[in-house]
Formats: sequence, structure tokens, C-alpha cells
Amino acid sequence: MNSNITIGIVVGSTRPQRRGGIVADWVQQVAEAHGATVELLDLAAFDLPMLDEPSPAVRGDYTRPHTLRWAAAVAGCDAFVFVVPEYNHSFPAAVKNAIDYLFAEWKDKAAGLVGYGVQGGVRAVEALRPVLAEVGIADVRTQVCVNLMTDFVLTGPTDVGRIVPAGHQEPTLRRMLDEVVAWAGALRGLRAPA
Ligand SMILES: Cc1cc2nc3c(=O)[nH]c(=O)nc-3n(C[C@H](O)[C@H](O)[C@H](O)COP(=O)(O)O)c2cc1C
Repeated sequence: MNSNITIGIVVGSTRPQRRGGIVADWVQQVAEAHGATVELLDLAAFDLPMLDEPSPAVRGDYTRPHTLRWAAAVAGCDAFVFVVPEYNHSFPAAVKNAIDYLFAEWKDKAAGLVGYGVQGGVRAVEALRPVLAEVGIADVRTQVCVNLMTDFVLTGPTDVGRIVPAGHQEPTLRRMLDEVVAWAGALRGLRAPA
């Protein structure tokens, strides 16, 4: 795998007691063991308020310190893996807000999607794809759907639990990462030097 491609793992849930950190840790471990260079972009740590920039992101006139911090982190990545839970048949508002803050930093980069939820987060992943397209992110076909009923061990509905992925999950994640890195390498030629 091309380790010159930096993959930002976007942790898409921000609530206390979230399972997002557990899923993102698994993604990071598998990616690093596969030879990928990864960086964690934890939305809880960036703590972005609801979009408060006067100009639309497409103009690039960022004024707020939190926007500049977020923009620098995203600009430093060639590709992304979005780790998103399913909330009410979609992805969390925090993810949409974080995407809306930027434009050029996303454009002509590749992404893979990891959903999780009671039914694998499939609807969160499908809802995210058209949003990524609008900011110029090329999202690969292979997706990972972590099912809380079969890929987690939970002792009850409020237990954060631990991830025990079914046998097919790791090879699927590796295949998705291969696609992301291949597309990110191809897209580099389209991007102006940073
Ligand atoms: C606001 C909210 C809405 C949810 N809606 C769904 C849903 O529509 N479908 C689903 O499969 N799970 C749903 N769930 C369950 C979550 O997918 C599950 O709790 C998951 O752990 C949430 O990710 P997090 O722990 O990282 O926040 C919902 C959870 C929350 C908090």
C-alpha cells in the first residue's frame, strides 16, 4: 500500500458514551497493519459550533479560528474514511456541519465509508454519498457496515460494549482502503500543490 497517502479517519459521532471511538480505533488498527498512513480527525475534539462563517466555504474566506484549525487538518489529508453511525436513518448532524465548513480542502480527494448501527448503518452511508459528491469527494464502492447486533458484544442497550467484527469485515475494510488509496493517488494529479 502507498504510505505516502495520508488517510484522515473522520470520527463522526460526538456524544459522550459513543461507540464511534471503538469503531474508529478498529479502522485505525486494521489500516495501520495494512500499511496505511492514517490520522484521526475526531469531530468531538474539533468541537465545531454550528456553521458560523459569514461566507460560503466555496469562497475560502475563512475567518474563525476553529475553521482554520479544521481546514488545516483536512488539507493535510489525501483521502478520508468517514466513520458514521446511523441517527434517524441518516448520518449525524455533526458530520454535515463539519463538511459544510470547507470546500477546497475536500475537493478531488477520495473517501471510503464505514457505517455502524442496529442494521449496520447502511442508511447513514447512503445518505452521506451525495453530500460527499457535492464537495468533490470521490467515494469508493466498497463500504463497511458494522452491525451492533452481530459485530459488537453488548450486555444491554446502554452498554457501549466492544467490537468483535464478523470474519468478513476485516477483508472488506482492507479492500475498501486499497480502493481509497488507489483513487487518492490518481486524484493527486488534479489538485493544485498545497
Ligand atoms: C439520535 C439517535 C438516533 C438513532 N437512530 C438510529 C437509526 O435510525 N437506525 C439505527 O440502526 N440505529 C440508530 N441509533 C442507534 C445508533 O446507531 C447506535 O446507538 C450507535 O452506537 C450510535 O453511534 P455513537 O454511539 O457513536 O453515537 C440511533 C442512536 C441515536 C443516538
